[in-house]
Amino acid sequence: MSTEKILIIGSNGQIGLELAATLRKNYGFDNVVCGDLRALDNQEGPFEVLDVLDKDRFHEIVKKHGITQVYLLAALLSATAEKNPKFAWDLNMNGLFHILDAAKEGLIKKVYWPSSIAVFGPGTPRVNTPQYTVMEPNTIYGISKQAGERFCEYYHQKYGVDVRSIRYPGLIGWKSAPGGGTTDYAVHIYHEAIKNASYTSFLAAGTTLPMMYMDDAIRATIELMEAPAEQVKIRSSYNVAGMSFDPEGIAASIRKHIPNFTLSYNPDFRQAIADSWPQSINDAEAREHWNWKPEFDLDKMTEVMLSNLK
Ligand code: NAD
Ligand code: SER
Repeated sequence: MSTEKILIIGSNGQIGLELAATLRKNYGFDNVVCGDLRALDNQEGPFEVLDVLDKDRFHEIVKKHGITQVYLLAALLSATAEKNPKFAWDLNMNGLFHILDAAKEGLIKKVYWPSSIAVFGPGTPRVNTPQYTVMEPNTIYGISKQAGERFCEYYHQKYGVDVRSIRYPGLIGWKSAPGGGTTDYAVHIYHEAIKNASYTSFLAAGTTLPMMYMDDAIRATIELMEAPAEQVKIRSSYNVAGMSFDPEGIAASIRKHIPNFTLSYNPDFRQAIADSWPQSINDAEAREHWNWKPEFDLDKMTEVMLSNLK
């Protein structure tokens, strides 16, 4: 029987839905409480309506359920954040402060907070981007993630908060829809391939970005959270890599199953965001510290995506 009680905040988003299902398998259905702005029509299991900006409500839920660990997923993603920068900063930062402060006060024991490849910027070496390098993000999302990383490390060093984090690449899965990011095209393309055998990409030809299949991301998250504390030597956020491709690369992989699939391009404002991010990630520290290893490459992911979406 698990002694942990987990709260996932932002549980009904792209990552939350899949993370909740896996954590419930591992820790017991009733030991994982989901929290989001509103319930889904088919919401399952323990659920609380929660706006992470409402600190009192958050504390109330933690006490009511005896929460020991929080996974904080509520945030505005890169594309949405550019449309509402002030609110993005408010949500992405103050949400994090509420959770870090609760850990500092001893209300909860462990925190997971995701960062992103968006912490890097146009001055960062774009190929095989190392853990430690130039980081000058020029999107509000990237700025909030970089500031968040600094505060995670600060709370760990100054107050002993056990906070753990991964810089996710673009995440791709078939069970849930993406929530307003620059990498969302790599999910939409599979849906459109099945429906119409064609897709118009909002990123230009040749735009290579780091990506990861959702199962790998969920496994990385839980492996990091379960690693002995002494192995978690980085308390800002870990680089992790899965695969890298451009729109033509994913189209070529889809054509192995749908030979008449066609791809066209109509880049929009998200192109500038993508152009400021790395093309591939060096994740040597994650591999060395807590034995991270991805399992999915592009063709394996395409097979799983297409067979499940069909
Ligand atoms: P998403 O947009 O799909 O889901 C976010 C969820 O948070 C939604 O269900 C939303 O209703 C909820 N939410 C929004 N505001 C809230 C609030 N004030 N209080 C409570 N809940 C609120 O996002 P996602 O893709 O699941 O991403 C989760 C986290 O992972 C974010 O921090 C994101 O920056 C990070 N991340 C995601 C990716 C990716 O490719 N999906 C990549 C890098 C980092
Ligand atoms: N997938 C995310 C986005 O595009 C990266 O953090 O916003």
